[in-house]
Amino acid sequence: MRQPQLEPAAGLPSDVTIYEVGPRDGLQNESVIVPVEVKAEFIARLITAGLPIVEVTSFVHPRWVPQLADAEQLVDLIDLDGPTPLPVLVPNERGLDRALEAGVAHIAIFGSATESFARRNLNRGLDDQFSMFEPTVARARAAGIDVRAYVSMAFGDPWEGDVPVDQVAGVGRRLVDLGATQLSIGDTIGVGTPGHVTRLLEAFAANGIPVDQLAVHFHDTYGQALSNALTAMLHGVTTIDASAGGLGGCPYAETATGNLATEDLVWQLHGMGVETGVDLPALVETSVWMAEQLGRPSPSRVVQALGGT
Ligand code: HMG
Ligand code: MG
Repeated sequence: MRQPQLEPAAGLPSDVTIYEVGPRDGLQNESVIVPVEVKAEFIARLITAGLPIVEVTSFVHPRWVPQLADAEQLVDLIDLDGPTPLPVLVPNERGLDRALEAGVAHIAIFGSATESFARRNLNRGLDDQFSMFEPTVARARAAGIDVRAYVSMAFGDPWEGDVPVDQVAGVGRRLVDLGATQLSIGDTIGVGTPGHVTRLLEAFAANGIPVDQLAVHFHDTYGQALSNALTAMLHGVTTIDASAGGLGGCPYAETATGNLATEDLVWQLHGMGVETGVDLPALVETSVWMAEQLGRPSPSRVVQALGGT
């Protein structure tokens, strides 16, 4: 299978951690419910392809996200004690109880930078979300569990429009103060552009949050995800979220489409000499297989280009 010609680019980290969200962010938005055995195989293939961390499912209310209602069955089918961390989304203490009972060792909470999305996604106001997260994070940290925290609608909100960068960084600051170990800045509806990425990273720095505590999570709705990821890396971000085959979206944000495709990111990084540990042919094969399971082609350009080879 073709590989990019290696031509190193200046100003980039030597290696990047790809935080794979396909099984969670990808499959939560599928209209069909994928059988639990297929999800388990998808995760196993992603691990074999070298993804260093794979977010596998959500312990949210099953009525809110029926696509992931099989979270307990799924984690029973996968190896939570292997070397690859397999985090799950947890919104509250009830979700944490379920995750702890299932033997999960890594969790991610998901906060909103806006009032509208906090209400739609968490059934809470902007300020009230923190009272839900506070005991969840405290108990997880006391149990020795790392807590990633998403900040959604960081670049724009479908109901409120523009979102001030200081408001986003302020939400991030509050999540770090609660004990979150990593923040993932989420462009839930994919509207951000590179200058906006720079401003937002500056706002986080001004709020005392070091760049090594940050990850970026771009949806590709407006075709900006790869440029935005490159911008973030040029500013020192070394954890980039991506979704195999470009699956993804959010059922509570209608304008959210697929995430940055992992293959497209890997092609760019390997071409520039940035290490990821990912086996691109194995990953492409995985996405081709997953597209067959879902009955439609992958939106990833690299999967489209290489999938038949
Ligand atoms: P609520 O209705 O306000 O919950 O929902 P509640 O606390 O009032 O409890 C009501 C009932 O739900 C109770 O049961 C609870 O036990 C139960 P009852 O006593 O009535 O029998 N309950 C639960 N059951 C199972 N698991 C739970 C749970 N919690 C409560 N965890 C809640 C609040 C947060 C639960 C709900 O709004 C919810 O589940 N939201 C999830 C939405 C979601 O998953 N969205 C997609 C993920 S976010 C995303 O995709 C963005 C991201 O990718 C980043 C980006 O792109 O920006 C991360
Ligand atoms: Mg997302």
